[in-house]
Amino acid sequence: MAKYRIAWLPGDGIGKDVAEAARIVLDRLDVDAEYIHGDIGWEFWRTEGEPLPKRTLDMMKETDCAFFAAITSKGRDVADAELLPELQGKGFVYRSPIVRMRQLLDLYICLRPCKAYPGNPLNYKDLIDLVVFRENTEGMYIGVEFPKVPEEFYAVKGTEKLPRDAAISLRAVTPGGSERIVRAAFEYAQKYGRKRVTAVHKANVLRQTDGVFMEAARKVAAEYPEIAFNNANIDAMGMWLLKDPYNYDVIVTTNLFGDIISDLCAQMVGGLGFGCSGNIGTDYAVFEPTHGSAPKYAGQYKVNPIATILAAKMMLDWLGETDKGAQLEAAVAEVIKEGKVRTYDMGGDSGTLEMAEAIAAKL
Ligand code: IPM
Ligand code: MG
Repeated sequence: MAKYRIAWLPGDGIGKDVAEAARIVLDRLDVDAEYIHGDIGWEFWRTEGEPLPKRTLDMMKETDCAFFAAITSKGRDVADAELLPELQGKGFVYRSPIVRMRQLLDLYICLRPCKAYPGNPLNYKDLIDLVVFRENTEGMYIGVEFPKVPEEFYAVKGTEKLPRDAAISLRAVTPGGSERIVRAAFEYAQKYGRKRVTAVHKANVLRQTDGVFMEAARKVAAEYPEIAFNNANIDAMGMWLLKDPYNYDVIVTTNLFGDIISDLCAQMVGGLGFGCSGNIGTDYAVFEPTHGSAPKYAGQYKVNPIATILAAKMMLDWLGETDKGAQLEAAVAEVIKEGKVRTYDMGGDSGTLEMAEAIAAKL
């Protein structure tokens, strides 16, 4: 029996292209793993009313971790219209599978390293190396929404002027959820010799939810006096990151702000072709590229697989295969530095699998 059982979730769109690329390097590294395919994605929404079928979740529970590439997700109106006619009007509600996985499996850390590799023509300014810790289970992602104001809301003081036809999305931030993500950020900083943790919020407006977050952040920060701690409002943070990204090291924030800021950071190290992500809980994790399924490029083997390959590196590290993880990162860095194989986003014309083969050849 293989040492590791890995749930393999290519998804749809370019998810399949980049997952194939990741397997080329994992196979070359001879990881002692069994990869078990799981159904996930748009086609299962259309035909079953469930983009993350129960059989896939059940299978994941029997594995050590999961590797997920990308899936198509669309807004409510489009999703409902694309459901097979016989399933329409039966109460199926589209919910993002990745968001559900994070919540169902309590993968509370969304770890997004943003590191520039020398020679990448897409690098912004000089070499940036920062890490985003995004809270992954609560905040604006709890999924409690109302198409219009529920009548009982008007019992709450201050809601009198709220128009009845307002749609409502609730944001929930708990002290426990905040503490554990901030602690994860500080533990990471300590382990990897990072100098500073910056907590990002909008506490001047979201007084309650970000009040809770910042209170927890300050409390945890006090336990790590050797690591510098500061904080910034999300809007200013966007500006400062563009102005002087070298001032930042580890960033920790709530779910939606982390979603936004991690795309910004990914763009500074080459764009979504380079953004990788680990959704990590206490004993399970799902690794994925940050990008989506880019349906228009599906099956063309055109997109950059490096984000997905770096997600594989994160998975190897998490499994404890740190030597293989380091080898893989070194191979990626070398191919980028040489500049001979470049996908279209990098100004070249190499394909997805060509890039994977070039990286595998360095292993
Ligand atoms: C991400 C993505 C997801 C998110 C989408 C696909 C639901 O943007 O992983 O950053 O919002 O978390
Ligand atoms: Mg995102």
